[in-house]
Amino acid sequence: MNARPRVLSLIQPTADSFHLGNLLGAVQYWPVLQESHECFYGVADLHALTVATEPEVVRQRTLVSYAQLMAAGVDPQRGAVFVQSHVPEHAELMWVLACMTGFGEAGRMTQFKDKSAKAGADSTNVGLFTYPVLMAADILIYGANAVPVGEDQRQHLELSRDLAQRFNKRYGRTLVVPEPHIMKNTAKINDLQEPNAKMSKSSPAGCVNLLDPLKTIEKRIKSAVTDSDTEIRFDPQRKPGVSNLISIIHGLTGQPIEEIVAGLQGQMYGELKKQAAAAVIAYAEPFQATVQSLLEDRAQLEQLMKDGAEKARQAAAATLDAVYDAIGFVRRAGR
Ligand code: TRP
Repeated sequence: MNARPRVLSLIQPTADSFHLGNLLGAVQYWPVLQESHECFYGVADLHALTVATEPEVVRQRTLVSYAQLMAAGVDPQRGAVFVQSHVPEHAELMWVLACMTGFGEAGRMTQFKDKSAKAGADSTNVGLFTYPVLMAADILIYGANAVPVGEDQRQHLELSRDLAQRFNKRYGRTLVVPEPHIMKNTAKINDLQEPNAKMSKSSPAGCVNLLDPLKTIEKRIKSAVTDSDTEIRFDPQRKPGVSNLISIIHGLTGQPIEEIVAGLQGQMYGELKKQAAAAVIAYAEPFQATVQSLLEDRAQLEQLMKDGAEKARQAAAATLDAVYDAIGFVRRAGR
């Protein structure tokens, strides 16, 4: 028996690079959790399919996302790091859960409402509607105790909890009811141009991609919006732009906020930006080199993915068997 609590988290391969918000708000914390938890981490290619994308782009982004997890310090030996579609049990459990999810219940998911409103009723797809059910399957298939998620995924996690409880009530205790895992020490990174909004790839000018050319990274940081004041102080309410730059330095260097601020007393905003750019570049340069070398050795990358999927499937198949037994499916021969 493994006594360590289980954690599950996935990241969607929907961009050519992770950005600072992905890193400092989530992924940077993944290796830390590996020290205390049994972790299942993966690249959510099934989820990414809800947005139509060129096949070659899907493949490349999946490889790059996986390589970036390694570069961010996730240790493939310490847990399972896999590609979602390599573990077919996710999709299998999803069907069972879909049959227990109310139509109205799925329709109330705010992310679905936002995304389908943007796409328009005709170009939205059923995958977008069942996206939270697949996410519930991701979590429940591993019996995850804790799921590190941001605010935007809270409602989806709540659905996972409801579905696990519903299943257990109907069929007897089979699924673990997951808890949200509050990530201490993660910084919420905002858009450099609109410092009251979360950093997002959909607003490129305010977004710093870790795999962008270092010159671009520097330029983006140096053109960050600050304020008309001159004082360097950490006050996200009144000084969102300045505080965001301080958070970036803090997130990347681990230096306490008070120390960063004290060190910048009497300086102008230009110096703050210089320090922020230097911190990002110091992180991005070796990060890019690691990603590059992983991508160049495709065979090794594929081997890592294969090992990760095998580990993940062991856990996933056990849950799926228990679920199939509970709902009355006839056992497959050999299982
Ligand atoms: N929906 C998540 C996001 O966009 C990604 C995701 C898919 C996920 N499955 C998950 C996160 C399971 C946590 C657990 O960020």
